[in-house]
Amino acid sequence: MFRQELEAVAQAMVAKGKGILAADESMGTIKRRFDSIKIEANENNRRAYREMLFATPGLEEAISGVILFDETIRTAASDGTPFPQVLSKKGIIPGIKVDKGPVNIPGFPGEVVTEGLDGLRARVKEYKEFGAKFAKWRAVITIGDGIPTYNCLEANAHALARYAALCQEGGLVPIVEPEVLLDGHHTIERSEEATEAALRITFSTLMRHRVHLEGMILKPSMVVSGKENPRQAGVEEVAERTIRCLKRTVPAAVPGIAFLSGGQSAVSATEHLNAMNKLGPHPWQVSFSYARALQDPAIKAWKGESANVATAQKIFYHRAKMNGAARSGSYSKELEAAV
Ligand code: 13P
Repeated sequence: MFRQELEAVAQAMVAKGKGILAADESMGTIKRRFDSIKIEANENNRRAYREMLFATPGLEEAISGVILFDETIRTAASDGTPFPQVLSKKGIIPGIKVDKGPVNIPGFPGEVVTEGLDGLRARVKEYKEFGAKFAKWRAVITIGDGIPTYNCLEANAHALARYAALCQEGGLVPIVEPEVLLDGHHTIERSEEATEAALRITFSTLMRHRVHLEGMILKPSMVVSGKENPRQAGVEEVAERTIRCLKRTVPAAVPGIAFLSGGQSAVSATEHLNAMNKLGPHPWQVSFSYARALQDPAIKAWKGESANVATAQKIFYHRAKMNGAARSGSYSKELEAAV
């Protein structure tokens, strides 16, 4: 019975035509986003910004779930309704980031492992009481000279598996996120190699830890050229390499794959998702769980001013709908232009 609930939530998270909004920026990350529009990162502005996003009319047409940050799950909208209820009233599933961010691995320069396992069982219980139905944990893998090492991949896979098992025990669907960063000079071939190695060890470890594959979602990075590499692979190549990599490593029992955007432009992230779905059908739903690629155009239009809320919401709705269309490979330049 318990497993069936996890499976039902996981399937709803990757429902056709929809994807997940990652709005779980930590205090440091939201400050960087607010710096870019020159507004202060205080509690009021954080609430106003999240309220603008969540109150967007029609958001539920293209957004199945929202990942919240610890502060946000405890915050209420200006009418007093707690954010998790604002979302669930619209049929959007609230989720929560539970990791505590990456720290350096001693003896492995340039490599990090994500912390947050201590006390996680109790935090899962608390978040469940706040209305969360799923969770997220992000592992960060860097490509560089001699890295990633096996040790780094293994340490992160272990943490992801411990986290996923604890979430399922407590009734939350884990989003398992091994992110291979696109920063660097590396080729797309190296990106594919590193992504394949990371996914291989992640799944073997998840299985060893008895994680129920039907009750989880994978959130990987796409296989793209390093940001500083002079040869930038085109949309078709990214789609083909990414799908090949996933087919080699992700069991068909997993209901869905929800990509992160990782610093791609909003339109590139939509084009890549669209091209991957055009290559389908696939054994799993191929969806999105973007933060920047969904929010960037909206935050630029908002600028922290209530007079801009309606315009920012229109832009945000459009971005969500474009990615919703990419879920079935029906996105096009014409659709993009028809605002
Ligand atoms: P981006 O889409 O901005 O990469 O963020 C997704 C996310 O949730 C990273 O953990």
